[in-house]
Amino acid sequence: MRIGVLTGGGDVPGLNAAIRAVVKRAEMEYGHSVVGFRNGWRGVCEGLLMPLTREDVRGILPRGGTMLGTARFHPHQHDGGIDAVLSTLEAERVEALVCIGGDGTLKAASKVADAGVKVVGIPKTIDNDVEGTDLSIGFHTAINIATEAIDRLHTTAESHNRVMIVEVMGHTVGWIAVNAGLAGGADLILTPEDPFDIEEVAAFIKRRHKSHANFSIVVVAEGAQPAEGTAMDFETPLNERGAIVAGSIGERLTQELSERTGFDTRLTVLGHVQRGGTPTPTDRILGSRFGVAAVDAISQETFGVMTALRGEEIKLVPLKKIAGKVKQVPQELVEVSKALW
Ligand code: F6P
Repeated sequence: MRIGVLTGGGDVPGLNAAIRAVVKRAEMEYGHSVVGFRNGWRGVCEGLLMPLTREDVRGILPRGGTMLGTARFHPHQHDGGIDAVLSTLEAERVEALVCIGGDGTLKAASKVADAGVKVVGIPKTIDNDVEGTDLSIGFHTAINIATEAIDRLHTTAESHNRVMIVEVMGHTVGWIAVNAGLAGGADLILTPEDPFDIEEVAAFIKRRHKSHANFSIVVVAEGAQPAEGTAMDFETPLNERGAIVAGSIGERLTQELSERTGFDTRLTVLGHVQRGGTPTPTDRILGSRFGVAAVDAISQETFGVMTALRGEEIKLVPLKKIAGKVKQVPQELVEVSKALW
């Protein structure tokens, strides 16, 4: 069998581990051959592909990014996009596809599966918002990077008696904010799941500085928003493709807290550093497990599914069940992050 593999959406550390596992499992266990499509679904539409053998994936396990390149391109959103996918797969004699991506790429995978293609998805996103899996590739590395940044900001915040605001990624969910904030001992963690009241936030910081501390660390998710009817009027700005404009809530919060508390306040927007560099062992292992499970599914003729981590086990969940859904931070975790303010 000839299997195609692609990586779509924003890159994350751990993608190469998944690609390597797909190639090695396919070749060594089943004698399949593998081709890699360049730049996500765009490469499938344009017929941009390369052969992938064990030789080609040697040494990529610890490398961040994706050796295949990626793009935010979804064939079902373009005229003739699905037809272009079908004709490339036919011309290249690709019988099954492994699609490694976040919600957008997996939704496209579900549409392509509806058109009759044999598809298996693998979830990846630093946002950890893919429904149906406990973890997506890349999230663990992102929270490690963000935690280290928060640790580092502690020492400079303390030295200068400052309020440090750290804006982390996560799009419409607060998984990175809550996890890195808890692990880094942030004093306040603001998430989209729990809209904030700016007056309460400012009062908390003033109380804290009066009673026992001379600095504060505030972690804010890029998608966090003030609660309706509270003193701060703010609408999250979106770019031309509907994605959150990084730095917006961070800048506004910095200005509000500086004015409302009178404390010296600084902003750090962590940005794409959260998606860069070496994957953690957890992401390498998760990518490897998902890659093996995807090829096993294909070899057992199970299609239209996504590999998922559920507790300790790797499962297959129907793409239809998860496509278009967003996994939010559970209330319990949000509450813990607030209990330790
Ligand atoms: O979905 C991953 C993510 O890093 C989000 O956290 C963030 O909002 C977005 O991608 C940034 O997108 P881009 O890399 O296109 O600027």
